[in-house]
Amino acid sequence: MTPMTITIIGTGYVGLVTGAVFADFGHKVYCVDIDPKKIDSLKKGNVPFFEPGLEELVRRNLVQKRLIFTTSYETSVPKSKVVFICVGTPPKTNGEADLTYLFDAVKETAKHLKGYTLITIKSTVPIGVEEKLEETIKGTAKNKFEFASCPEFLKEGSAVEDAKNPDRIVIGTKSKKAADLLLDLYKHLNGQRVVCDLRSAQTIKYVANTFLATKISFANAVADICEKLGADAEIVLSGAGYDKRIGRNFLYPGVGYGGSCFPKDVSAFIHIADNVGYNFQLLKSVEDINHNQVNVFFQKVTKHLKKLDGKTVTVLGLSFKPNTDDIREAPSVKVISKLLEQGAIIQAYDPAAANHIRNMFKDGVKIYENPYDALEGSEAMLIITEWNEFKELDLTKVKHTMSKPIIIDGRNIYNPETVRSLGFVYEGIGRIQSNKL
Ligand SMILES: NC(=O)c1ccc[n+]([C@@H]2O[C@H](COP(=O)([O-])OP(=O)(O)OC[C@H]3O[C@@H](n4cnc5c(N)ncnc54)[C@H](O)[C@@H]3O)[C@@H](O)[C@H]2O)c1
Repeated sequence: MTPMTITIIGTGYVGLVTGAVFADFGHKVYCVDIDPKKIDSLKKGNVPFFEPGLEELVRRNLVQKRLIFTTSYETSVPKSKVVFICVGTPPKTNGEADLTYLFDAVKETAKHLKGYTLITIKSTVPIGVEEKLEETIKGTAKNKFEFASCPEFLKEGSAVEDAKNPDRIVIGTKSKKAADLLLDLYKHLNGQRVVCDLRSAQTIKYVANTFLATKISFANAVADICEKLGADAEIVLSGAGYDKRIGRNFLYPGVGYGGSCFPKDVSAFIHIADNVGYNFQLLKSVEDINHNQVNVFFQKVTKHLKKLDGKTVTVLGLSFKPNTDDIREAPSVKVISKLLEQGAIIQAYDPAAANHIRNMFKDGVKIYENPYDALEGSEAMLIITEWNEFKELDLTKVKHTMSKPIIIDGRNIYNPETVRSLGFVYEGIGRIQSNKL
């Protein structure tokens, strides 16, 4: 094997994980970011966000000098045959993807190309964007380059594992040379290969994310109907999900999806479809159901607590999902904002994301070091993120700690009967209201 020299532009979740995994396979990887603080911290082996297993992987490859962190395109791009673009593509206010970071990164890359370079876009981008990028850089790029699309499917919380064991590797290129180069780079990783054109590759990413978001909103709609019918959504969805054609993954009701990908990719795909004359009503409903799901949850809170003014409530789970500290588009932020609007006193706990919430809400939220302290004197436990540690709380101890034994379970982590038998008032999402099944 001949190790390759590659550059990763953008050291966020996707870029850093991708870079560290390639370095671990023996390649020399330059990781470039415009944020000097981030690069300084990474040079010391400190990963500026929480992702299981990542810091150890980064440190190991840093010591071996296979992973190099820099703010300079000039020192990395000319040495690299493949440059991966992994910068953010956040939503604009109208839902379209904001491509400012992408264009900046590609323009800067173009200035430093030396020899044939494959500019491979890992960021989630609108279909056909490389045509505009090509047009933009053709005057600057003095050397031969090609664009490729290699969308990323890792999940925060299991990003390292996902990047090492992907279900599939999608490689969208215009030439066999480019496809062979990427196939070679990825040869040590498992997973189906999907080699195709760029437009298909880019579309796969949107279809995957929006389909998963659709499953979540479908489950939330089913939960609402189940409550009205007196059926239990957990039983109904597992009964349906045992069918292999359906599958239970992502068919869980809750407080709605969040994070940096699903919300933005759903609205971006609606826009992309709109631009080619397709009114994507299905996805518009997915988005509406998701927006409303926090209200569904909040109504359960007010149903049991009536007026919230001056009442102490506890929010358990602040990250948008377990095993990450990411609070981008987290349902917790929306719930906390609503609670504050109504004058509630908020006590909160999260194993990883507490500092981000502290920075965002300052004294508005009292953060605790463990769930039991956060529940002391509280009139309601609100479960927003299904961290494993909440599943085995000592609920007898919790009941004595709280001033009123009310649990509103936004992730259905508890068995309603068990919790009610301990003397709690319990409400989940789409569960049968009484104890009897
Ligand atoms: N986070 C995920 O789970 C995930 C999964 C799959 C795909 N994606 C997609 O991958 C892309 C990146 O997502 P992320 O979550 O890693 O983003 P992120 O916000 O965590 O990281 C982006 C990084 O790019 C850097 N950056 C911005 N402009 C730059 C420039 N011109 N030069 C160098 N660095 C620059 C930023 O400083 C930041 O560190 C997005 O398009 C996203 O939709 C994300």
